[in-house]
Amino acid sequence: MLSEKMQDALNAQINAELHSSYLYLAMAAYFESQNLLGFANWMHKQSEEENVHGMKFYHYVNDRRGRVILTALEGPKTDWTSSLAVFEDSLKHEQKVTGLINKLMDLAIAESDHATISFLKWFVDEQVEEEANVDSVIQDLKRIGDAPQGLFILDRELAGRKGEGEGEGGDAT
Ligand code: FEO
Repeated sequence: MLSEKMQDALNAQINAELHSSYLYLAMAAYFESQNLLGFANWMHKQSEEENVHGMKFYHYVNDRRGRVILTALEGPKTDWTSSLAVFEDSLKHEQKVTGLINKLMDLAIAESDHATISFLKWFVDEQVEEEANVDSVIQDLKRIGDAPQGLFILDRELAGRKGEGEGEGGDAT
């Protein structure tokens, strides 16, 4: 059984992951409004993966015979001044999520909840990858600067991101 404190913290993380999905969907919508459909594709895949993350927590709480409680999702930011600003927000967001995962891990360790420690390890590794992938796009955008050709090429490249289980690039979360 999960402790009540652990259950509450895991339920809060379901909300955080689903909020992430909602935020990335808002970022996809922004890129679609800019006719940057490759960037929008990248954000759609990211949004789908965040939903998968939320469901991993959902199933875990149920597997431990806990009670999933869903709460209201905060509305996401909807507008940005540039592609770079979107990805910088995305990195800030992932750093915040990394902090939440670390806090969950701290709690699991404090409670000697070995099953939750094991479950959370996947997320600890995933966050390293998430931050690195976002940062890589930020570096590309900084190199491109105001050059429209560069943005065009990067947009084409990001159009190739596949979702989980769709082959090459599926791990680009
Ligand atoms: Fe599920 Fe991007 O953290």
